[in-house]
Amino acid sequence: MLYDPSSYANINDVQTTHLHLDLTVDFTKKVLSGSVTLDLVAVVSDVSNVILDTRHVDVRSVHYGTNTSLKFSLDPDDERFGSALRIALPSSLQTGTKFKLTIGYQTTSACTAVQWLEPSQTVGKKFPYLFTQCQAIHARSLVPCQDSPSLKVTYSATIRSHYRALMSAIGTGESEAGDGYKVYTFEQKTKIPSYLLALAAGNLVGRQIGPRSTVWTEPEVIESAAWEFADTEKFVATGENLLTPYEWRKYDLLVLPPSFPYGGMENPCLTYVTPTLLAGDRSLVDVVAHEISHSWTGNLVTNANWEHMWLNEGWTVFVERKIVGRVEGEAYKQFRSIIGWRELEDSIKQFGSSNPLTALTPNLKGVDPDDSFSSVPYEKGFNFLYYIEHIVGGPKYFEPYMKAHVENFAGKSITTDDWKAFLFSFMENNYGAEKRAVLEKIDWEAWLHAPGLPPVRNEFDQTLAKACSELAERWDAARNKTTFEEFSPDDVKNFSSLQKVVFIQRLSEYPPLPQNAIRELDRLYQLTSIVNSEIRFRWQELCLLAEYEPIFPHVVKFVTEQGRMKFVRPLYRLLNRCKNGSELAKKTFREHRSFYHPIAAGMISKDIL
Ligand SMILES: *[C@@H]1O[C@H](CO)[C@@H](O)[C@H](O)[C@H]1NC(C)=O
Ligand SMILES: *[C@@H]1O[C@H](CO)[C@@H](O)[C@H](O)[C@H]1NC(C)=O
Ligand SMILES: *[C@@H]1O[C@H](CO)[C@@H](O)[C@H](O)[C@H]1NC(C)=O
Ligand SMILES: [Zn+2]
Repeated sequence: MLYDPSSYANINDVQTTHLHLDLTVDFTKKVLSGSVTLDLVAVVSDVSNVILDTRHVDVRSVHYGTNTSLKFSLDPDDERFGSALRIALPSSLQTGTKFKLTIGYQTTSACTAVQWLEPSQTVGKKFPYLFTQCQAIHARSLVPCQDSPSLKVTYSATIRSHYRALMSAIGTGESEAGDGYKVYTFEQKTKIPSYLLALAAGNLVGRQIGPRSTVWTEPEVIESAAWEFADTEKFVATGENLLTPYEWRKYDLLVLPPSFPYGGMENPCLTYVTPTLLAGDRSLVDVVAHEISHSWTGNLVTNANWEHMWLNEGWTVFVERKIVGRVEGEAYKQFRSIIGWRELEDSIKQFGSSNPLTALTPNLKGVDPDDSFSSVPYEKGFNFLYYIEHIVGGPKYFEPYMKAHVENFAGKSITTDDWKAFLFSFMENNYGAEKRAVLEKIDWEAWLHAPGLPPVRNEFDQTLAKACSELAERWDAARNKTTFEEFSPDDVKNFSSLQKVVFIQRLSEYPPLPQNAIRELDRLYQLTSIVNSEIRFRWQELCLLAEYEPIFPHVVKFVTEQGRMKFVRPLYRLLNRCKNGSELAKKTFREHRSFYHPIAAGMISKDIL
């Protein structure tokens, strides 16, 4: 039995095997219109109806086979899960029966998967832009479908657009279609879960950056994007070395406009990344290593539903840090792990340490997966795997297991129980009963089900973090002084960008500094003027915690020139909490609401309005 608390689809009766999209991108009306054809198979006997997921899409018709029109109805909309589309089949079907349904539909302005950008919201300011974002459960707002990661489908698409279209698939052709339209065709031959459907269209140009990689973006930023992501192939090759040959043929990157709400999205063949990674110093490309890692964990081995998201994200952070460790060195990997732990602490503090959503495998019945999104599946998941690697004897034992995990589960969707059973059997079969005994001693209940911080705190090497902590400690000790002669710009001269991030993070663990200390900190280290988005974020956060009002205009500027939720949500929340910032936060958000992606706008609105 398949189980998915976030889907209405009757996935235990019928299952989609292939999906074909036939859509026209209408930039004037801001709609996608056309049809989807689903290849389905009955998996039990006497199947008389098909229930699909939808969300704010306008369903026009349903056909069985080529020309039998079917009756359908839409349930009332639920703001968490959308609206079930109920389709009555012409006769009840027996196990194994294959059939096609074609659903004529168009999107509406309320569709949460689709963002239409005005030319003014793009870098070039001349052409409109469209992009979709389906994770976790927004695919149903792009296309009526069985929107559950427990099922995987191949897909193909025919897209008519005035501007270049790209998808999470291999492009198979483009031709003129009259009226200024071009037709782009795509094919994804490896089975994917619905949340990996992706479509973007706009004034896009490509530049090859590796044997299987092209970076796509608006022409104005193509140079800097090609430079920033030049190491992409090195990461893919390292992933292959660690795991299995790369499955998806192409690894392209699409650098999105600034409102893209995430750091990256692992759409197969076409990773999406935020332009806030364009730091000019390649210091933020870990996000690319992360998305590349999803090529194996997430895209090949997929969580069966969002309660098991850590199998996607915790595993991917673990693989990402293995790759980064091999490419950049072990000290850097350890340093990243320390930063990750701090992000985990932040998330748990934000939710409250007894909140059930901070468990590694939360119960999501009735919960919108967007509301449960946090660092927990990423960093608690990473720490769990790191801990298991350590207790079974280190990489010598664990890395062969990682490869076997991918080989065993490639093409499948799995639960935590599936994962655990294979871990036990691999360890016992390959290394004997003593490894099994080691695994049995793990506090499984606390790791998997208890809220709050994990039951074990891993030790990470402090080499790169030490200087950051020491400098933060000195500032804390000097907090009551009126002059700060003991500090100078040299304090941070040798710091990498990430060390600056960690220095500021550490400082924000102390009670807020007095205003004159903040002013000195900025004068000496020139923090307000740094453009690296991670440093900028941490610095503005520190200032807001101290209610340092001179930072307000800089915060407003940052949260209105990009819409990445990692940055804008905490900054809006903190500004809103400042005595004199609350009005400014609300006013800024109301004025710029249409700039944000629908998912981000929804979350910020819940946070501060
Ligand atoms: C700074 O002053 C406050 C209030 O007088 C005091 O409680 C605190 O201990 C002082 N901190 C340091 C580091 O001297
Ligand atoms: C910075 O690094 C240089 C070269 O490694 C070294 O000579 C210098 O002492 C360092 N400065 C500080 C403040 O640590
Ligand atoms: C807020 O604004 C008022 C009036 O401009 C000012 O007096 C006060 O110092 C500001 N800061 C805080 C934290 O209240
Ligand atoms: Zn991820």
